[in-house]
Amino acid sequence: MILNTELEYKGNLSPTNIVSYKKNLDTLSFTSENNVVLQITVQRDSVLRIRYTTTGVFEKDFSYAITKYASRGYNFLEITEDKDNYIITTSKIICHVAKMDMRVAMYDAKDNMLICEDEIGFHWEESYEFGGNVVKMTKTAQEGESYYGLGDKPVDNNLKGKRFENWVTDSYAYKKDQDPLYKAIPFYIGLHHEKSYGIFFDNTFRADFDFCHERRNITSFWAQGGEMNYYFIYGPEMSDVVSIYTDLTGKPHELPALWTLGYHQCKWSYYPESQVTEIADKFRKLKIPCDALYLDIDYMEGFRCFTWSNEYFPDPKRMVKELADKGFKTIVIIDPGIKIDKDYSVYKEGLEKDYFCKRADGAYMKGKVWPGECYFPDFTNPEVREWWSDLFKELVEDIGVKGVWNDMNEPAVMDVPGKTFPNDVRHDYDGNRCSHRKAHNVYGMQMARATYQGLKKFSYPKRPFVITRAAYSGTQRYTSSWTGDNIATWEHLSIANIQAQRMCMSGFSFIGSDIGGFAEQPNGELYARWIQLGVFHPFCRTHSSGDHGDQEPWSFGPNVTDIVRKFIEIRYQLLPYLYTAFWRYANEGVPILKSLVLYDQKDPHNYYRNDEFIFGEKILACPITEPNAKGRRMYFPFGNWYDFWTNEVIEGGQELWVDADLDSMPIFVKEGAIIPKYPIQQYVGEKEIDELVLDVYYKSGEETSQVFEDAQDGYDYIKGRYSLRNFKLVGKEKSLIIQQYKSGKYITPYETIKIKFHGLPFKISKIQIDNEEKLFGDVKLNGDNTIVISKEFTELHIIT
Ligand code: GLC
Repeated sequence: MILNTELEYKGNLSPTNIVSYKKNLDTLSFTSENNVVLQITVQRDSVLRIRYTTTGVFEKDFSYAITKYASRGYNFLEITEDKDNYIITTSKIICHVAKMDMRVAMYDAKDNMLICEDEIGFHWEESYEFGGNVVKMTKTAQEGESYYGLGDKPVDNNLKGKRFENWVTDSYAYKKDQDPLYKAIPFYIGLHHEKSYGIFFDNTFRADFDFCHERRNITSFWAQGGEMNYYFIYGPEMSDVVSIYTDLTGKPHELPALWTLGYHQCKWSYYPESQVTEIADKFRKLKIPCDALYLDIDYMEGFRCFTWSNEYFPDPKRMVKELADKGFKTIVIIDPGIKIDKDYSVYKEGLEKDYFCKRADGAYMKGKVWPGECYFPDFTNPEVREWWSDLFKELVEDIGVKGVWNDMNEPAVMDVPGKTFPNDVRHDYDGNRCSHRKAHNVYGMQMARATYQGLKKFSYPKRPFVITRAAYSGTQRYTSSWTGDNIATWEHLSIANIQAQRMCMSGFSFIGSDIGGFAEQPNGELYARWIQLGVFHPFCRTHSSGDHGDQEPWSFGPNVTDIVRKFIEIRYQLLPYLYTAFWRYANEGVPILKSLVLYDQKDPHNYYRNDEFIFGEKILACPITEPNAKGRRMYFPFGNWYDFWTNEVIEGGQELWVDADLDSMPIFVKEGAIIPKYPIQQYVGEKEIDELVLDVYYKSGEETSQVFEDAQDGYDYIKGRYSLRNFKLVGKEKSLIIQQYKSGKYITPYETIKIKFHGLPFKISKIQIDNEEKLFGDVKLNGDNTIVISKEFTELHIIT
């Protein structure tokens, strides 16, 4: 007879003493007396993977986040032991595993400094309801430690003192500090004593992170199921931590086509066709550069994906072609919900092939979205992804659509608790069948991946363009993203600023916000300030919901229109600069925006800064995020900075007032920088680039810069058809030398480079190119400190 009906609580169990250990190539396994196995894999000298099981056996190793292209291999590995610890040493990290209780501590291999150590370390709680464990980790915060990262959290940069949840959630009109939002990126960065490390907790279940919130000196993370499985990444440079994390979870598979870095205009929704045409023509008439126009859900027939409304868009192919002739690329939205309609081919096919998600007992997962009741493809099934990717054939190949926007892919479900699928929904998870508890956070990612596969297939030989709302770590390999349904308020302008920085330091640089705000309506001032910030974000798009009035660059009167045009023009001029930053991101994982702490982790002033950021490598920008401002105070990181507008030089390491009326914004250029510019175009490809402009900012000393160019689309760059100009600038009191070293096989269309000198402390009286003195007849020396020279020069020497 069972007398005790209370559930036995099996909480907070911990490993006991280590009884055995094994080494197998790069992997060490430690077994405790109570049968916990800790597996440490040396991925790289700076990356250790840490995994635990409480049953003696590990689950099948499978991750959507980790890319097969991640770097592996180390230079040095040594295992030793002392009385208390096993000691794993690489050229970067010394890792101690305590014999008594399996606790782990990480030290810098160069100076033995303690970087990160377990407090209780790994512990767990058995889950009666679902089986398996709630897996937990606690670490001791080091003195003065700060925390960063975690994707799209709408909070101040430094996460210290706060707690977060990772569960991707549709969050219409979210508030500051609201959590969770649309993305789950379980990667954070710790920084103390000027040294930085990262932790990537690769677990897709609902997970929590606590940064000294519950207990003042303890940082912890835990998940509702799955394995305690994390990667420890050591810098000590924060920029290296971010690049290594990005290498691990994947860099974009290709560079974005240059046009995707232009300005995009969106609204829920532009329809019918005549309205789309009107918007397009107005851009050209007012000479506001724009590359992409979006069609939101109303282009479809009753919100059925892959259909067109006959009434509003009777001949989409012709319309898309006419837009293309004017330089506009058409991007359409595709949501995951497939309308239940027996006469709708996508629905019928999905049903026949058994591609829709089902509940635990076999019923379909039915949920309401825009089209009414829907079924949802299981994008975690590779066969479903393949099918989905083929659905884009007509849209892309035949109609000529250039990009696809994936929305509502958290997945969002209306009018139900939790706004998503219930936990019991089943998923294939690439053959590792599981419930929605495990698949939820990757559902949107796998949808975006399937969409990307389709776009890639049918856009070839051009590059694909996808944008997604939901994401898990690794999604950056396939797609760009935006920060979801924000609000037209000043507070949201500063949230957008922080979110973009945070996404960039979380490995996901192709990010922007709905410029002007999605919900509600901005006034002209807010819109202008938002455009100013938006042109410095990797993805630059105005979007708004239709019921709140117009939100085009010209909707706020001529004064605002002029300001908006001026800033979008600056973005178009800076395209080669941004493209070069993108190339560094796609190639080396270097984030496109750098928060000040990432730019200079030695300066404690930067630890709590939110507003200022570095765009690319050399431009410091700081948005105005308050109404009626004539300027603002901002912090200048160490170094000297040229005012973009006036060329005045400011010494860094101090906070100063900067004037910035509505038609201006604080923008500064690092001294010594060489900034490439293209002429203003109404869209990418409008003009053939017949001259590259280089803005050269004098510095007494040395500085290097790069310019990456290629055919602006297509895959030839992968075969070496790119042009990379490496510049070294050496400034002295009476001379300035610029050396150019060029690599790559791409031949740029221009023959000459126009160099504009800023801040030269002397008057040019002599010019040598490649050691030959040039008469002013040979080079064009203009009165305004600009010269025009052959693009092939290897050394330019100007002398007073
Ligand atoms: C969601 C999206 C928004 C879109 C709308 C209609 O709210 O976040 O961008 O316009 O759905 O499709």
